[in-house]
Amino acid sequence: MNDNVFSLTVLVSGGGTNLQAILDQIESKSLQNVAVNAVISSRSDAYALTRAKSHNIPSFVCAKKDYQTTEEYEQALNLLLKDQNPDLIVLAGYLPVVPEIVVSSFPNRIINIHPSLIPSFCGKGYYGIHVHEAALKRGVKITGATVHFVDEGTDTGPILLQKAVEVWDDDTPQALQQRVMEQAEWVILPEAIRILAKRAGF
Ligand code: GRF
Repeated sequence: MNDNVFSLTVLVSGGGTNLQAILDQIESKSLQNVAVNAVISSRSDAYALTRAKSHNIPSFVCAKKDYQTTEEYEQALNLLLKDQNPDLIVLAGYLPVVPEIVVSSFPNRIINIHPSLIPSFCGKGYYGIHVHEAALKRGVKITGATVHFVDEGTDTGPILLQKAVEVWDDDTPQALQQRVMEQAEWVILPEAIRILAKRAGF
């Protein structure tokens, strides 16, 4: 924790557009007294790592496959997070389930962005493009994104913010995903961080 800023450690797995939205708002000063102190990826090929490096943010890879046992992996991730000592952990397109040891080390200090209006299209198997495929298959007219606190379940923690997005008749899953990211995810994730930073006195 750094005295004069609300420090974030951001966990990623993919393109890092949600991380980029946070960095852009810090740079444009619409997110003030907030800093990303580290980026941790579950995959070494995540473009989010490139985004972190171009902002000189310390980045790490912590992948389950690199450890002999699940236990070792979970301990390593927990220790790595404790070393960063963040005020808030932000899951931004992070795919693995957060280990129980991490949730209990950082109670009410982990948030996640999910690309639907929870409780619709969430839980096991609902991630990335699959969420939008399911929304189109069901024929919903409104979808959106949710920021929620992370508890020991999958997408089950208390909801902090949600933003609705219209579904168009000719939407493909890719087109819908892009609109949900642009109109909802990239808006409410920085907004949630702003709210929590303010709540913490920053
Ligand atoms: C996207 O499907 C987004 O909807 C979800 O995670 C995926 C990757 O996000 N939150 P990002 O571009 O890595 O932030």
